[in-house]
Parts: sequence; structure tokens; C-alpha cells
Amino acid sequence: MIYIGCDHGGFALKQEIFKYIKEDLALEIEDLGCYDTSSVDYPDYAEKVCNKVIAENAQGILICGTGIGISIAANKIKGIRCALCSEPFSAEMTRKHNNANVLAMGGRTTGSELAKSIVKAFLSTDFEGGRHQNRLDKIAALENIK
Ligand code: RB5
Repeated sequence: MIYIGCDHGGFALKQEIFKYIKEDLALEIEDLGCYDTSSVDYPDYAEKVCNKVIAENAQGILICGTGIGISIAANKIKGIRCALCSEPFSAEMTRKHNNANVLAMGGRTTGSELAKSIVKAFLSTDFEGGRHQNRLDKIAALENIK
């Protein structure tokens, strides 16, 4: 399952990406909001999506105006590795090397066709493991520093 969430700044792009994943990629996706352009707080949607990602070992997609705030919020949650991507190469590499479980994008910075190519790269690339796992273990250790 893929979980998607956004704030008002990411709403329009979220609608497009939800449809793309469900209809064109034919993958299971659940929309955790927001559901219109009323002003909301992006940490609330980062939390909703990331809680599902952790509980179900799923993948998440988060969109705010720039993708910055919502990715910062997501990365505060233990076990989340959220990558803010503005082109597909980074989306591919963050799966291969960082085993990113959440993709963030900016609804006001990234056009929908480019965003679709980013999503496709993210969802179709596997983690390479090996030397990269050691680095992820070190990131996990940082989560325990108070
Ligand atoms: C909301 O206006 C905006 O601040 C938010 O969508 C995001 O860009 C924050 O990083």
C-alpha cells in the first residue's frame, strides 16, 4: 500500500499523483488528505502518512508547497527516511542508497509531468543493501541521541 498526504500547497499536485498511481500505475494507494485547499498544517499530514508507513512497512508520498516543511516534519519520526526530490535521478538513488520510505515533493515547485516521473522512479526502484545498510544503521543510531 502507498499512502499519500499533503497540505493546501500540495493539494493540486496530490490529486494528480493520486490518480496517476491508481489509474496509470495500477497500484494500491490511500489518500490521507487534505481534501481541499483550506489552509492546514503540514506536520499533521506528515504524521498521518508516516504513522501508516511505520505501522505497515509501507511507502509514503508527501506534498506541500515546496516539499521542505513536510519532509522536515516526516524526518522527525523514528524510522522515517523521507527524501525531497525535484527530479527522477534523486528519487532512484534515494531508493537504491537510502532505502527512503517516503518521497516528498513541492506542489508549487514541481510540475505534474515531472512529478509523475519522480514518483515512477521512486516506486520502481529497490534498495541495494550491502554497504548502504551500514550507513542506514548509523542513521538509525542517530535517532537515539537525545
Ligand atoms: C504553506 O503555505 C507552505 O508553507 C507549505 O506548503 C510548505 O511549502 C512549507 O514548507
